[in-house]
Amino acid sequence: MTPSNEDELTQAALQRLDGAPDPRFAQIMRSLITHLHAFVREVDLRPEEWMAGIEFLTATGQTCTDKRQEFILLSDTLGASMMVVMLDQLRASGRGGPPGRPDGRSVTPATEATVQGPYYWAGAPELPCGADIAPGTPGEPTFYSGRVTDTQGQPLAGALLDIWSGDGEGVYDMQVEGAGMSARARIRTDAEGRYWFWSIKPSYYPVPVDGPVGRMLAGIRHHPNRPGHIHMMVSAPAHAPVTTHLFVAGTPYIDSDVVYGVRPSLIVAFEPHPAGRAPDGRVMDQPYWSAHYDFHLQPTAA
Ligand code: BEZ
Ligand code: FE
Repeated sequence: MTPSNEDELTQAALQRLDGAPDPRFAQIMRSLITHLHAFVREVDLRPEEWMAGIEFLTATGQTCTDKRQEFILLSDTLGASMMVVMLDQLRASGRGGPPGRPDGRSVTPATEATVQGPYYWAGAPELPCGADIAPGTPGEPTFYSGRVTDTQGQPLAGALLDIWSGDGEGVYDMQVEGAGMSARARIRTDAEGRYWFWSIKPSYYPVPVDGPVGRMLAGIRHHPNRPGHIHMMVSAPAHAPVTTHLFVAGTPYIDSDVVYGVRPSLIVAFEPHPAGRAPDGRVMDQPYWSAHYDFHLQPTAA
Protein backbone atom coordinates (compact mmCIF):
# COMPACT_ATOMS: atom_id res chain seq x y z
CA MET A 1 0.00 0.00 0.00
CA THR A 2 1.36 3.40 -1.01
CA PRO A 3 -0.27 5.96 1.27
CA SER A 4 -1.54 9.14 -0.31
CA ASN A 5 -2.67 10.95 2.86
CA GLU A 6 -2.12 10.96 6.63
CA ASP A 7 -4.83 8.41 7.43
CA GLU A 8 -3.48 6.01 4.84
CA LEU A 9 0.04 6.44 6.22
CA THR A 10 -1.15 5.24 9.63
CA GLN A 11 -3.05 2.35 8.01
CA ALA A 12 0.07 1.37 6.03
CA ALA A 13 2.25 1.37 9.15
CA LEU A 14 -0.31 -0.78 10.99
CA GLN A 15 -0.63 -3.20 8.05
CA ARG A 16 3.08 -4.00 8.29
CA LEU A 17 2.33 -5.70 11.61
CA ASP A 18 0.18 -8.32 9.91
CA GLY A 19 3.20 -10.59 9.47
CA ALA A 20 4.44 -10.33 13.07
CA PRO A 21 4.51 -13.86 14.53
CA ASP A 22 4.28 -12.73 18.18
CA PRO A 23 0.73 -11.43 18.81
CA ARG A 24 1.69 -9.56 21.98
CA PHE A 25 4.52 -7.76 20.18
CA ALA A 26 2.11 -6.89 17.37
CA GLN A 27 -0.45 -5.58 19.89
CA ILE A 28 2.12 -3.34 21.58
CA MET A 29 3.45 -2.04 18.25
CA ARG A 30 -0.09 -1.40 16.95
CA SER A 31 -0.91 0.74 19.94
CA LEU A 32 2.45 2.52 19.86
CA ILE A 33 2.09 3.43 16.15
CA THR A 34 -1.53 4.50 16.60
CA HIS A 35 -0.73 6.80 19.55
CA LEU A 36 2.52 8.09 18.04
CA HIS A 37 0.85 9.09 14.78
CA ALA A 38 -2.06 10.64 16.67
CA PHE A 39 0.39 12.60 18.85
CA VAL A 40 2.31 13.95 15.85
CA ARG A 41 -0.95 15.01 14.23
CA GLU A 42 -2.52 16.43 17.39
CA VAL A 43 0.36 18.81 18.08
CA ASP A 44 1.09 19.32 14.35
CA LEU A 45 4.74 18.49 15.06
CA ARG A 46 7.19 20.66 13.08
CA PRO A 47 10.36 19.14 11.57
CA GLU A 48 12.62 21.13 13.91
CA GLU A 49 10.55 20.01 16.93
CA TRP A 50 10.75 16.39 15.78
CA MET A 51 14.54 16.77 15.46
CA ALA A 52 14.75 18.34 18.95
CA GLY A 53 12.94 15.27 20.26
CA ILE A 54 15.34 12.93 18.45
CA GLU A 55 18.30 14.85 19.90
CA PHE A 56 16.76 14.68 23.39
CA LEU A 57 16.38 10.89 23.16
CA THR A 58 19.90 10.57 21.73
CA ALA A 59 21.30 12.57 24.68
CA THR A 60 19.26 10.43 27.08
CA GLY A 61 20.94 7.29 25.69
CA GLN A 62 24.38 8.93 25.73
CA THR A 63 23.93 9.84 29.43
CA CYS A 64 23.47 6.16 30.37
CA THR A 65 26.48 4.40 31.90
CA ASP A 66 26.86 1.23 33.98
CA LYS A 67 25.99 3.42 37.00
CA ARG A 68 23.32 5.69 35.56
CA GLN A 69 20.13 4.87 33.65
CA GLU A 70 18.76 8.10 32.22
CA PHE A 71 16.02 6.30 30.24
CA ILE A 72 14.56 4.83 33.45
CA LEU A 73 14.75 8.28 35.02
CA LEU A 74 12.87 9.64 32.00
CA SER A 75 10.24 6.92 32.39
CA ASP A 76 10.05 7.69 36.15
CA THR A 77 9.58 11.43 35.66
CA LEU A 78 6.94 10.93 32.96
CA GLY A 79 4.93 8.70 35.33
CA ALA A 80 5.37 5.66 33.06
CA SER A 81 7.33 3.59 35.63
CA MET A 82 4.69 4.18 38.29
CA MET A 83 1.91 3.28 35.82
CA VAL A 84 3.65 -0.05 35.11
CA VAL A 85 4.08 -0.69 38.87
CA MET A 86 0.42 0.02 39.58
CA LEU A 87 -0.87 -2.15 36.73
CA ASP A 88 1.52 -4.99 37.57
CA GLN A 89 0.33 -5.16 41.17
CA LEU A 90 -3.32 -5.09 40.06
CA ARG A 91 -2.66 -7.94 37.62
CA ALA A 92 -0.65 -10.00 40.12
CA SER A 93 -3.36 -9.67 42.74
CA GLY A 94 -6.14 -10.78 40.40
CA ARG A 95 -6.80 -13.79 42.62
CA GLY A 96 -7.30 -11.88 45.84
CA GLY A 97 -8.48 -8.48 44.60
CA PRO A 98 -6.62 -5.26 43.91
CA PRO A 99 -4.09 -4.09 46.49
CA GLY A 100 -5.24 -1.08 48.41
CA ARG A 101 -8.87 -2.08 47.94
CA PRO A 102 -10.42 -4.80 50.13
CA ASP A 103 -11.90 -7.61 48.03
CA GLY A 104 -14.36 -9.02 50.57
CA ARG A 105 -12.21 -12.08 51.30
CA SER A 106 -9.01 -10.47 52.58
CA VAL A 107 -9.26 -8.73 55.93
CA THR A 108 -6.60 -6.26 54.87
CA PRO A 109 -5.36 -5.14 51.44
CA ALA A 110 -1.86 -6.07 50.30
CA THR A 111 0.78 -3.40 50.83
CA GLU A 112 0.95 -1.11 47.84
CA ALA A 113 4.00 -1.13 45.60
CA THR A 114 6.01 1.81 44.33
CA VAL A 115 9.05 2.40 42.12
CA GLN A 116 12.28 0.58 42.90
CA GLY A 117 14.56 3.43 41.81
CA PRO A 118 18.23 3.12 40.87
CA TYR A 119 19.81 2.72 44.31
CA TYR A 120 19.04 -0.91 45.14
CA TRP A 121 22.26 -2.83 45.85
CA ALA A 122 21.86 -6.61 46.06
CA GLY A 123 23.66 -8.43 48.84
CA ALA A 124 23.09 -6.08 51.80
CA PRO A 125 24.22 -7.64 55.10
CA GLU A 126 21.70 -9.90 56.83
CA LEU A 127 21.32 -8.47 60.34
CA PRO A 128 19.22 -9.53 63.34
CA CYS A 129 16.12 -7.66 64.48
CA GLY A 130 17.15 -4.74 66.66
CA ALA A 131 20.33 -4.01 64.67
CA ASP A 132 21.39 -0.47 63.80
CA ILE A 133 21.66 -0.67 60.00
CA ALA A 134 23.16 2.82 59.63
CA PRO A 135 25.94 3.21 62.22
CA GLY A 136 27.90 6.39 61.56
CA THR A 137 25.49 7.50 58.82
CA PRO A 138 24.49 11.18 59.05
CA GLY A 139 20.90 11.57 60.21
CA GLU A 140 18.59 11.47 63.20
CA PRO A 141 18.22 8.00 64.77
CA THR A 142 14.93 6.27 64.09
CA PHE A 143 13.43 3.09 65.53
CA TYR A 144 11.46 1.20 62.83
CA SER A 145 9.08 -1.59 63.84
CA GLY A 146 5.99 -3.45 62.75
CA ARG A 147 4.83 -6.80 61.48
CA VAL A 148 4.59 -8.69 58.22
CA THR A 149 1.31 -10.59 57.82
CA ASP A 150 -0.67 -12.09 54.98
CA THR A 151 -3.88 -10.44 53.78
CA GLN A 152 -5.84 -12.48 56.33
CA GLY A 153 -3.76 -10.92 59.11
CA GLN A 154 -1.75 -14.10 59.79
CA PRO A 155 1.81 -13.24 60.90
CA LEU A 156 4.56 -14.35 58.52
CA ALA A 157 7.58 -15.67 60.41
CA GLY A 158 10.92 -15.44 58.59
CA ALA A 159 9.66 -12.88 56.04
CA LEU A 160 12.55 -10.94 54.52
CA LEU A 161 12.80 -7.14 54.50
CA ASP A 162 15.53 -5.93 52.15
CA ILE A 163 15.94 -2.31 53.25
CA TRP A 164 17.78 0.70 51.81
CA SER A 165 17.68 4.47 52.09
CA GLY A 166 19.71 7.60 51.61
CA ASP A 167 21.11 9.30 54.68
CA GLY A 168 19.64 12.15 56.72
CA GLU A 169 21.03 14.59 54.13
CA GLY A 170 19.50 12.83 51.13
CA VAL A 171 22.64 11.06 49.88
CA TYR A 172 22.82 7.35 49.02
CA ASP A 173 26.02 5.37 49.69
CA MET A 174 26.13 4.50 45.96
CA GLN A 175 26.45 8.19 45.12
CA VAL A 176 29.69 8.50 47.07
CA GLU A 177 32.65 7.34 44.98
CA GLY A 178 34.33 4.33 46.60
CA ALA A 179 31.96 4.20 49.62
CA GLY A 180 30.78 0.85 50.98
CA MET A 181 27.21 -0.03 51.90
CA SER A 182 25.42 2.02 54.52
CA ALA A 183 21.79 2.32 55.60
CA ARG A 184 21.11 -1.07 54.03
CA ALA A 185 20.33 -4.47 55.50
CA ARG A 186 18.27 -7.60 55.14
CA ILE A 187 16.22 -8.35 58.24
CA ARG A 188 13.91 -11.31 58.89
CA THR A 189 10.76 -11.27 60.97
CA ASP A 190 10.62 -13.26 64.21
CA ALA A 191 8.20 -16.12 65.00
CA GLU A 192 5.33 -13.63 65.46
CA GLY A 193 6.06 -11.85 62.17
CA ARG A 194 7.60 -8.84 63.95
CA TYR A 195 10.55 -6.77 62.76
CA TRP A 196 12.41 -3.94 64.39
CA PHE A 197 15.64 -2.12 63.59
CA TRP A 198 17.39 1.21 63.90
CA SER A 199 18.35 3.50 61.05
CA ILE A 200 18.08 7.23 60.34
CA LYS A 201 15.17 9.43 59.35
CA PRO A 202 15.58 9.83 55.58
CA SER A 203 15.58 13.24 53.96
CA TYR A 204 14.07 14.40 50.69
CA TYR A 205 16.58 14.55 47.83
CA PRO A 206 16.80 15.48 44.14
CA VAL A 207 17.08 12.96 41.32
CA PRO A 208 20.11 13.62 39.07
CA VAL A 209 19.54 16.88 37.15
CA ASP A 210 22.79 17.24 35.19
CA GLY A 211 21.40 15.40 32.14
CA PRO A 212 18.51 15.62 29.66
CA VAL A 213 15.88 14.73 32.29
CA GLY A 214 17.09 17.64 34.43
CA ARG A 215 16.74 19.92 31.41
CA MET A 216 13.22 18.59 30.78
CA LEU A 217 12.23 19.26 34.42
CA ALA A 218 13.67 22.78 34.21
CA GLY A 219 11.73 23.26 30.97
CA ILE A 220 8.44 22.51 32.71
CA ARG A 221 9.51 24.38 35.90
CA HIS A 222 9.10 21.30 38.11
CA HIS A 223 11.44 20.68 41.03
CA PRO A 224 13.52 17.47 40.88
CA ASN A 225 12.85 16.21 44.42
CA ARG A 226 11.60 13.03 46.00
CA PRO A 227 10.03 13.26 49.50
CA GLY A 228 11.90 11.55 52.37
CA HIS A 229 11.44 7.77 52.21
CA ILE A 230 12.98 4.43 53.09
CA HIS A 231 12.86 1.57 50.57
CA MET A 232 11.88 -2.01 51.38
CA MET A 233 11.48 -5.17 49.34
CA VAL A 234 9.34 -7.47 51.46
CA SER A 235 9.04 -11.16 50.61
CA ALA A 236 7.98 -14.49 52.06
CA PRO A 237 7.60 -17.96 50.52
CA ALA A 238 4.24 -18.53 48.75
CA HIS A 239 3.40 -14.80 48.84
CA ALA A 240 3.72 -12.08 46.19
CA PRO A 241 6.74 -9.91 47.11
CA VAL A 242 6.30 -6.15 47.24
CA THR A 243 8.82 -3.43 46.39
CA THR A 244 7.75 -0.34 48.26
CA HIS A 245 8.74 2.65 50.40
CA LEU A 246 7.66 4.19 53.67
CA PHE A 247 7.30 7.96 53.29
CA VAL A 248 7.92 10.36 56.18
CA ALA A 249 4.65 12.16 56.93
CA GLY A 250 5.12 15.90 56.56
CA THR A 251 8.31 15.64 54.51
CA PRO A 252 8.76 18.33 51.87
CA TYR A 253 7.53 17.30 48.39
CA ILE A 254 5.10 14.66 49.70
CA ASP A 255 2.44 16.10 47.37
CA SER A 256 4.68 16.55 44.33
CA ASP A 257 7.11 13.60 44.17
CA VAL A 258 9.00 14.06 40.90
CA VAL A 259 8.51 10.34 40.08
CA TYR A 260 4.87 10.04 41.31
CA GLY A 261 5.89 7.30 43.79
CA VAL A 262 3.81 8.45 46.78
CA ARG A 263 0.75 6.40 47.73
CA PRO A 264 -1.27 7.62 50.71
CA SER A 265 -1.19 4.15 52.31
CA LEU A 266 2.62 4.36 52.52
CA ILE A 267 2.83 7.66 54.44
CA VAL A 268 3.91 7.02 58.03
CA ALA A 269 3.95 9.31 61.06
CA PHE A 270 7.47 9.58 62.49
CA GLU A 271 6.97 10.17 66.23
CA PRO A 272 9.55 12.26 68.13
CA HIS A 273 10.93 10.98 71.47
CA PRO A 274 13.27 12.55 74.03
CA ALA A 275 16.51 10.80 75.01
CA GLY A 276 15.87 7.78 77.23
CA ARG A 277 14.88 4.13 77.05
CA ALA A 278 13.59 3.12 73.59
CA PRO A 279 10.91 0.44 72.99
CA ASP A 280 13.58 -2.27 72.43
CA GLY A 281 15.34 -1.39 75.71
CA ARG A 282 18.16 0.56 74.06
CA VAL A 283 19.07 3.65 76.10
CA MET A 284 19.33 6.64 73.77
CA ASP A 285 21.51 9.56 74.81
CA GLN A 286 19.87 11.81 72.21
CA PRO A 287 16.32 12.38 70.96
CA TYR A 288 15.12 9.89 68.40
CA TRP A 289 12.15 9.12 66.14
CA SER A 290 10.00 6.02 65.79
CA ALA A 291 8.06 4.74 62.78
CA HIS A 292 5.63 1.83 62.92
CA TYR A 293 4.27 0.03 59.85
CA ASP A 294 2.69 -3.36 59.16
CA PHE A 295 3.25 -4.95 55.74
CA HIS A 296 0.67 -7.31 54.21
CA LEU A 297 1.56 -9.82 51.50
CA GLN A 298 -0.87 -11.46 49.10
CA PRO A 299 -0.72 -15.31 49.14
CA THR A 300 0.11 -16.73 45.71
CA ALA A 301 -1.90 -19.56 44.15
CA ALA A 302 -1.35 -22.89 45.98
C1 BEZ B 1 14.74 6.45 44.53
O1 BEZ B 1 13.82 6.52 45.30
O2 BEZ B 1 15.77 5.99 44.98
C2 BEZ B 1 14.60 6.96 43.11
C3 BEZ B 1 13.49 6.58 42.38
C4 BEZ B 1 13.37 7.04 41.08
C5 BEZ B 1 14.34 7.87 40.53
C6 BEZ B 1 15.42 8.25 41.28
C7 BEZ B 1 15.55 7.80 42.59
FE1 FE C 1 15.03 6.57 47.16
